[in-house]
Amino acid sequence: MTKYYISTFGCQMNVHDSEKMSGILKAEGYIEADSLRDADLVIFNTCSIRQKAEQKFFSELGRLKELKKRKPGLTIAVAGCIAQQEGKNILKRVPYVDHVMGPQNIHMVRDILKSNINTIAIDDNPLIADTELPVERKDEVRAWINIMYGCNNFCSYCIVPYTRGRERSRPSAAILHEIKGLAERGYGEVTLLGQNVNSYADDISFPELLKAVDKIEGIRRVRFVTSHPKDLSDDLILAIRDSEKVCEHIHLPLQSGSTKILSLMNRKYGYDDYIGKVDKLRKEIPGIAITSDIIAGFPDETVEDHRMTIKALHDIQFDGIFAFHYSVRAGTRAAVMEGQVEDHIKLSRLNEIFEVQNDISERKNKALLNSVQEILLEMPDEKNPKKMSGRTQTNKIVSVYFDKENATLKSGDLINVSIIKANRHSLEGIVKP
Ligand code: 5AD
Ligand code: SF4
Repeated sequence: MTKYYISTFGCQMNVHDSEKMSGILKAEGYIEADSLRDADLVIFNTCSIRQKAEQKFFSELGRLKELKKRKPGLTIAVAGCIAQQEGKNILKRVPYVDHVMGPQNIHMVRDILKSNINTIAIDDNPLIADTELPVERKDEVRAWINIMYGCNNFCSYCIVPYTRGRERSRPSAAILHEIKGLAERGYGEVTLLGQNVNSYADDISFPELLKAVDKIEGIRRVRFVTSHPKDLSDDLILAIRDSEKVCEHIHLPLQSGSTKILSLMNRKYGYDDYIGKVDKLRKEIPGIAITSDIIAGFPDETVEDHRMTIKALHDIQFDGIFAFHYSVRAGTRAAVMEGQVEDHIKLSRLNEIFEVQNDISERKNKALLNSVQEILLEMPDEKNPKKMSGRTQTNKIVSVYFDKENATLKSGDLINVSIIKANRHSLEGIVKP
């Protein structure tokens, strides 16, 4: 029996692509190996969004050289965004790789692995949104569901439009069918996935899709990522407000507080437009949590531009952010822009961003002390079975410790907890009787 192991890097989209590759392999009779060393087939599902992610993959791949020598029957496949970008160059750089398969071609995993010649599957796949693939999910409570593929935005720093191709929406009927099936199997939460869900376009719009998902019996919570601020419509805000199960949380990447930098980034909104959207969101949905992405040290970012980002953090008061220093991606427009910022400056700006936001996140969490929050219990922590955790509607993680009285709690339960401790990035709670 052939055993496979998938090592996944990067975003939720990649995690979900791995679930699909796993689904295909299981259907073909392969079984999952407990560890990489135990596998006959290793697939790396790679990420190229920033240089760090790339380096991490190449160093992990490097460690397989010896293993392949000792185990010549071992098959190594590279999937994901690095595969798409590098194509056959990977075989030149790392000769012990057998197959290369981009994110638009994961359906090929079945054929590729049966082939005894090196395969490079990196063609554009216009049928990606119309092809239904089996999915093997490990999580039994929360499920991720593709609603679109690719991206048309070409933010000037970003490699995704080149690796994942053009934007394509999955038919709404297929999405709703999948979610109904998940509800029947007991899933409590679904997260709709796309690079820019607000530009979803099938027979219905994204707000209409949300409303349809909201009505599916059995599903208790609905989330979605990611929203591009330029496409965040009033209809979407009202759909979140008026739905029962769509969580009060939006991830709305700002990237920079400087309109000049936003324009160089090709984001198609200014800082004032962004603030307008935040105001509307908070007016219609007062408890909504807003999280964001920030890039420090984009080309031509001056001290003044950076100060605008810091001021934006103070003014907006995000619930949390992911922040990165700008990473040059070959082939993107920003890679060849004038005014590249020196690494030490990028890093010191990034540190300041973290410092400012850490205080804000901590303050926001402390404001929840003694409040009662509804959380959806997730899968138990393998390392610490006495501890369970869940998230608030607003996507804040709460750890709950078991005692005799609540020993019957299980993943998938929606429970009320009193918040007894607030940390910077998480909360702790006890079950409210
Ligand atoms: N450098 C740094 N951060 C980047 N992101 C995307 N491309 C780059 C890059 N070249 C960040 C953006 C995006 C998030 C997913 O990753 O903030 O929203
Ligand atoms: Fe990249 Fe911009 Fe598309 Fe997001 S919207 S994937 S940042 S190009």
